[in-house]
Amino acid sequence: MKIALLGGSGRIGGHLLSWALESGHDVRALARDPRALAAVRQPVAAGAGPGTGSLIATAGDALDASAVAEVIRGSDAVLSALGPRGAKSPDLLAGAARNITAGMARAGVKRLICVSAAGAFIQGDPDTGALTKAILPRIFARPFADTRQMEAVIRASDLDWTLVRATRLVNTPGTGRYRVRPDYPPPRGRKIARADVADFIERALLDGDWVHAAPSLGY
Ligand SMILES: NC(=O)c1ccc[n+]([C@@H]2O[C@H](COP(=O)([O-])OP(=O)(O)OC[C@H]3O[C@@H](n4cnc5c(N)ncnc54)[C@H](OP(=O)(O)O)[C@@H]3O)[C@@H](O)[C@H]2O)c1
Repeated sequence: MKIALLGGSGRIGGHLLSWALESGHDVRALARDPRALAAVRQPVAAGAGPGTGSLIATAGDALDASAVAEVIRGSDAVLSALGPRGAKSPDLLAGAARNITAGMARAGVKRLICVSAAGAFIQGDPDTGALTKAILPRIFARPFADTRQMEAVIRASDLDWTLVRATRLVNTPGTGRYRVRPDYPPPRGRKIARADVADFIERALLDGDWVHAAPSLGY
């Protein structure tokens, strides 16, 4: 499969990049510093594949529409694991989503799987307590607003999208065993390893599952 990857130099993105290459997929990755892609390669489980995938790294910013369009052109699917580094780009996710959806529409690419955040939708979660609902949205007001706007942009597109709503991310090893619920985290499922977010994305991509859905992941 030809995969366009955004955020491949990040922590979820590093797992995705490693898996894709080990599994023999051809990856075109957009990165502000392509050298960072080498640094995030993760060890992949034995037997994952022959490791014959190819990588074309393109230097560019996710907020640059033409750079995003260039990476997407000719791909079968787009994976986005973008995340703002610090508070410098409060509109990164929504801005990148506009570029991704426009680039995909222009290139005729339909499949998009994008990391989102369960916390941004906490107000509708039937299993989250009132105190958490009062506090969390205040602390993360800007990133949560950006995440909701990102989802709105993607939902308004004609793409075959999946929005993967992660709970609190941790860096523990992947287990391959986690719970998934549409829209809101599974009850008491409050955290998920970045490796398992990547695992879910890989499965959804290969199986064609969770199209037009926002599955939330937790242990
Ligand atoms: N933290 C949590 O507990 C939590 C919970 C739920 C969901 N999430 C979501 O998870 C995502 C973050 O995942 P993560 O921890 O794997 O991210 P991460 O390690 O911080 O990686 C972020 C990636 O985005 C890239 N990026 C940032 N700005 C960019 C730009 N302007 N142009 C191109 N690339 C850019 C970074 O590239 P550089 O190498 O160039 O910086 C990096 O590859 C976010 O979308 C967040 O909403 C987080």
